[in-house]
Amino acid sequence: MDLTQTDAWRALETHATEFDRLDLRELFANDPARVDQMTRACGDLTIDWSKHLVTPAIVNGLIALAEEAGLAGTIAAMMRGDRINTTEDRAVLHTALRAPRGTTVMEAGEDVVAGVHDVLDGMAALSGRVRNGDWLGVTGLEIETVVNIGIGGSDLGPVMAYEALAAFRHPRLRCRFVSNVDGSDLVAALHDLDPATTLFVIASKTFTTQETLANARSARTWLTGALGHDAVAKHFVAVSTNADEVAAFGIDPDNMFGFWDWVGGRYSIDSAIGLSLMIAIGAPGFRDMLAGFRAVDEHFASAPLAENVPALLGLIEVWYRTFCGLQSRAILPYSRYLHRFPAYLQQLDMESNGKRTRVGGEPVTYETGPVIWGEPGTNGQHSFHQLLHQGTTVIPADFVVFGTPDHRDVELDGIEAHHDLLVANCLAQSEALAFGKTAEEVAATEPNPLLVSHRTFPGNRPSTTIMAPALTPSLLGQLVALYEHQVFTQGVIWGLNSFDQWGVELGKHLAAAIIPELTANEAPALAHDPSTNALIDRYRSMRGRP
Ligand code: F6P
Repeated sequence: MDLTQTDAWRALETHATEFDRLDLRELFANDPARVDQMTRACGDLTIDWSKHLVTPAIVNGLIALAEEAGLAGTIAAMMRGDRINTTEDRAVLHTALRAPRGTTVMEAGEDVVAGVHDVLDGMAALSGRVRNGDWLGVTGLEIETVVNIGIGGSDLGPVMAYEALAAFRHPRLRCRFVSNVDGSDLVAALHDLDPATTLFVIASKTFTTQETLANARSARTWLTGALGHDAVAKHFVAVSTNADEVAAFGIDPDNMFGFWDWVGGRYSIDSAIGLSLMIAIGAPGFRDMLAGFRAVDEHFASAPLAENVPALLGLIEVWYRTFCGLQSRAILPYSRYLHRFPAYLQQLDMESNGKRTRVGGEPVTYETGPVIWGEPGTNGQHSFHQLLHQGTTVIPADFVVFGTPDHRDVELDGIEAHHDLLVANCLAQSEALAFGKTAEEVAATEPNPLLVSHRTFPGNRPSTTIMAPALTPSLLGQLVALYEHQVFTQGVIWGLNSFDQWGVELGKHLAAAIIPELTANEAPALAHDPSTNALIDRYRSMRGRP
């Protein structure tokens, strides 16, 4: 169906003609119930979207659009295992990764939940052995460092969560994450490690990803150079859907943790891809995280649209992007431990909805996925917030903030006071963005008339504030699920397949062709465009190649 032809779409287009006149000061002044009506709990998250440039009529219009798009039915279709990833003919069942033991989700005639729990049990057994010091390296030493080698969803989820849950890590073990094919990534990770106490987790859904395999091979060379070929069995495990390639690499299939083609890379943190995280935080912590995901899944599956928080937040982004033409969205966690969260959400959102072709193959006629970016506060306040406050473009922001500091177990005189400073800054930023400071307000205290316009803040810069008690495994699961389902909602409205990623293919293909051209001993015959040919020549000459 073409949603652009519906009354709901047209009504929102009409509302959008008034977008520049929406004024948050007025909206709050005219509606004392605004905060109550636009604040909801979702699990342990409290989400306040009252500082968005929306009226109740716009929100109702967005809900009507979601109803036209059949959002509720598509949520149900995803969760029951319909093959909604049509271009790859796959189900999309990351929600089954956190389904409770004993429940049933059918895919291709089989219940997948039992398999999910078998893998979780296997991961728990391995992580328990590593954590207890029962998994010994080939020389009989305990493992001290786990090096996860993977990229994209096989890196961003584990590293983001490992960083986020620093307070829950095993005290003796550390994880490092190698993703970039830039050799300095691997070198930096290995430079001070002892091969005898290092365990590699090679994480790759396909086990064909060039960067991951290059890093895995070099890691194997590093290990076997020190400990001999037989060391691989004790120092390498794999996480993949591709048992053949894992075996071809030389990893014992007994040391492989599987998952399934119905888990997209950017939705795989709950699968065996989370193995390094589970080793770090333990199986109970990992299961707490899954329970957090599940709480938000249940909300998303059952709450009516008017109270469905992920759906409403997703719809507000549709409002900005498609109807108001805003281009990007800032993710601003006021938690240093969430410093990889914006990068994680970049893949989740941009690889899912950075698309211009509808499920049926026809081009979209409207704007889709926004640019996602961000940094933890307060650092961003001293760099890019200037543009958020006074730049010529409006960028909606998500603030994430916690009642309890992440460093709660660390004793340091005076550290308690930092959290109040941190939170005060977070709240001040959303307040300043929303309500600004008028020229009259500035003039009341600014003696230099030349500075009045410079010191004026336009306000009407929208934001969501997500507040939660503490950054725990469960909470992290809730937070990630909240975003997964927003992305899903947007994909449904935009008519996209949010679960493929054809846009990464061309670059991979061209890189494969360029590699031999860079490395050939003789000057290769180049048939690229003139710019690419010249760049290849320049690089070859820098490397002393003819
Ligand atoms: O190139 C994109 C991508 O396929 C992502 O979707 C995925 O998360 C990443 O590469 C890594 O893929 P794999 O886990 O198969 O190595």
